[in-house]
Amino acid sequence: MMVVKDSKAAYLYFIFILQIVGMATQNCPSPCYCNEYFEVFCNNTGISEIPRGIPKEAILLDLGGNKIKKIPYGTLNGLVNLIGIGLGNLGFSGHEIEAGALNLPNLTEVDLSFNKYKMVPPNLPKSMSTMYFSNNPIEVLDARSFDDYSSLEYIDMSNCNVTHIKPNTFDALVNVDIMHFAFTKLTNAGIPDAAFAKNKKLNYLNLRFNKLTRLLKGLPSSLESIEYIGNPIKEIPSNAFLDVPNLKTLGFMNSSLTKMNDNAFAGLEKLELLDFMSAAIISPITNNTFKGLTSLETITLDDNHIPSIDIGAFRDFKILTSLRLSGNNLTTLNKGVLDSKFIPNLNTLFIDFNPWHCDCHLRWLREKVGNASYVIEDPNLIVCHGPEKVAGKSWNELKPEDFVCN
Ligand SMILES: *[C@@H]1O[C@H](CO)[C@@H](O)[C@H](O)[C@H]1NC(C)=O
Ligand SMILES: *[C@@H]1O[C@H](CO)[C@@H](O)[C@H](O)[C@H]1NC(C)=O
Ligand SMILES: *[C@@H]1O[C@H](CO)[C@@H](O)[C@H](O)[C@H]1NC(C)=O
Ligand SMILES: *[C@@H]1O[C@H](CO)[C@@H](O)[C@H](O)[C@H]1NC(C)=O
Ligand SMILES: *[C@@H]1O[C@H](CO)[C@@H](O)[C@H](O)[C@H]1NC(C)=O
Ligand SMILES: *[C@@H]1O[C@H](CO)[C@@H](O)[C@H](O)[C@H]1NC(C)=O
Ligand SMILES: *[C@@H]1O[C@H](CO)[C@@H](O)[C@H](O)[C@H]1NC(C)=O
Repeated sequence: MMVVKDSKAAYLYFIFILQIVGMATQNCPSPCYCNEYFEVFCNNTGISEIPRGIPKEAILLDLGGNKIKKIPYGTLNGLVNLIGIGLGNLGFSGHEIEAGALNLPNLTEVDLSFNKYKMVPPNLPKSMSTMYFSNNPIEVLDARSFDDYSSLEYIDMSNCNVTHIKPNTFDALVNVDIMHFAFTKLTNAGIPDAAFAKNKKLNYLNLRFNKLTRLLKGLPSSLESIEYIGNPIKEIPSNAFLDVPNLKTLGFMNSSLTKMNDNAFAGLEKLELLDFMSAAIISPITNNTFKGLTSLETITLDDNHIPSIDIGAFRDFKILTSLRLSGNNLTTLNKGVLDSKFIPNLNTLFIDFNPWHCDCHLRWLREKVGNASYVIEDPNLIVCHGPEKVAGKSWNELKPEDFVCN
């Protein structure tokens, strides 16, 4: 049993328990559930009106998944501590939230996901900093849709059917930090150049699984992460990222990149992670493809069709520790490519699932297995494609002396 020695502490503890009990039992309107954190869950209870008697201490009120038809002005008055409100899955499509209904002093988080909105609705709180808006059938984001919501820092519009963003749509969002547009239907034509240019605090832009075939233009230099994963982007031109010099992570997994041009990443001196897994790359890695990526720690090039890598290709990877080249079309590799003067901190190397031609030119790499400052992972999965004598053999079955030229 808990023993409270200090009488003042005991008193405070007593008051605290009273508050919890008061909140959890006496003050919780049926059929809602209230917890000790002053969160009130009326979601999915079948109600068609906002219950009366919501405790004024409430910091969260979830009304989602009910038959509530509107949020009338005045019904939430007095909820001065409310920070978040859940209005998801209510079938809202237009003006259900009356003017002023959400004008509560502390309300900053609004969940409107899984509704039927085809526009950004009016009458949301001016102080709103977080807006969950995923899974709405909105197709066009009209110019100035967010002009009343310039406090927004976080917006999630994933799984909406957005095909078009009009010019100036986001101009008012000078505080926005994180924007999610994953699994929407954006095409090149659907995003105007400089759509995000005014969002000078934008840090993270999620464009996963859209329909972009080229990179966006005119992005704000504040961006530290952009996700193009799952877009059919075909090519990375030279100097493609000069507008975003602060990028730390960049992802192209599951895209349709066939070509990376020389100096594609020029200016990305802060980039730490570059992910090209399953990006369909067929172009060779030249000694200028990755030029300038001096802060890269991890590069993932697995499951592409890279046919060759030039000496010096990795010469800027001074702090790179992990290099993943599994599942490519490499037949050989010059010793100079992995020279420690280029990548002195390499500690993990993946080269399995390549059609290696295991002759005298590749012997040096077999010698590195278990015998280098870096670990070559999974030698049992590194299999020779040729010459005939060793074809089909894995590197743990072979010795360096088996790598010969005739
Ligand atoms: C209400 O929503 C919360 C999450 O906000 C969830 O944990 C809870 O299970 C929901 N309640 C009902 C009855 O669906
Ligand atoms: C709002 O929240 C602040 C703390 O974030 C708190 O001090 C204040 O009492 C709350 N209520 C009102 C009405 O501002
Ligand atoms: C988006 O469109 C698809 C196909 O038209 C539809 O099945 C889906 O329900 C729509 N999504 C939303 C959130 O309305
Ligand atoms: C990404 O591509 C790989 C290989 O093509 C595929 O197996 C995987 O399912 C894809 N992932 C997604 C999320 O589409
Ligand atoms: C791999 O390279 C060989 C020639 O070395 C070429 O014939 C083949 O098409 C390439 N495969 C892929 C998937 O790029
Ligand atoms: C890059 O490769 C080319 C041709 O393979 C070579 O002439 C050049 O010296 C190399 N540059 C550097 C910096 O290694
Ligand atoms: C280890 O590497 C050195 C050269 O770096 C080589 O001479 C030696 O044979 C290698 N040892 C094994 C066991 O492969």
